[in-house]
Amino acid sequence: MTRLRIPTAFDLLLFWHGLFVGAYTVAYLTAEGAPALHEFSGYAALALLAVRLIIARLAGQRAPWALPLPRAAQWKNFARQLLSGRLGVLRGRTPFAPLSGLLILGVMVLVSLSGLAADWWKWEDLHDGLAEGSLALVLIHIAIVSFAPLLRRLAAARSEDAAPSRLQTP
Ligand code: HEM
Ligand code: HEM
Repeated sequence: MTRLRIPTAFDLLLFWHGLFVGAYTVAYLTAEGAPALHEFSGYAALALLAVRLIIARLAGQRAPWALPLPRAAQWKNFARQLLSGRLGVLRGRTPFAPLSGLLILGVMVLVSLSGLAADWWKWEDLHDGLAEGSLALVLIHIAIVSFAPLLRRLAAARSEDAAPSRLQTP
């Protein structure tokens, strides 16, 4: 039986992420053919960003709603492990993941504010350029956050492949 439980702060951030991905995707896909839906989803993305920033301000340093600001100690530790040949560090959460999230947050604020400028004052080129460019950043983000789980799966598949041959050795 499924048990109901009170959502944690992390669940709520995950929910926010889902809503934001949805608003961005609809805004991107409707930009050329459906202006009303584009503006609605664009405003929804802007409102979600405002909510995220207000909660970050209230949360201060508290995870997971604190802004994913880069921390020198995290980068130093990551670089030290890589330089000493411990490539297994790439299978965990690397500092590139929060950095990509932070960059998306910043760029999306610019994309949606420039959308307002495109709507109100017809400053369309700035918004077109930022919005088209944001897709590359989103794809890089997806590649970064998928890299560690992919490495973990590969390692698990390799150890499963190796297990039967170990059993066969006399
Ligand atoms: C397969 C798709 C995706 C996956 C698996 C994914 C996963 C993640 C993960 C794991 C983080 C946390 C990074 C960390 O701090 O370690 C994150 C953060 C973030 N992602 Fe994604 N993401 C995906 C797609 C997207 C898309 C399409 C967008 C934008 C439209 C997006 C926007 C963000 C933002 C803004 C953050 C920062 C969240 C915050 O701290 O406020 N993500 N994502
Ligand atoms: C995450 C949010 C947003 C994304 C991803 C996005 C994406 C885009 C893209 C890709 C275009 C270019 C379409 C083309 O090539 O013709 C565009 C155009 C436009 N967007 Fe947005 N947009 C967002 C938010 C907004 C907002 C909040 C508004 C404000 C109402 C807005 C208003 C417009 C307008 C008026 C145009 C037409 C410009 C033109 O005809 O070239 N957008 N948007």
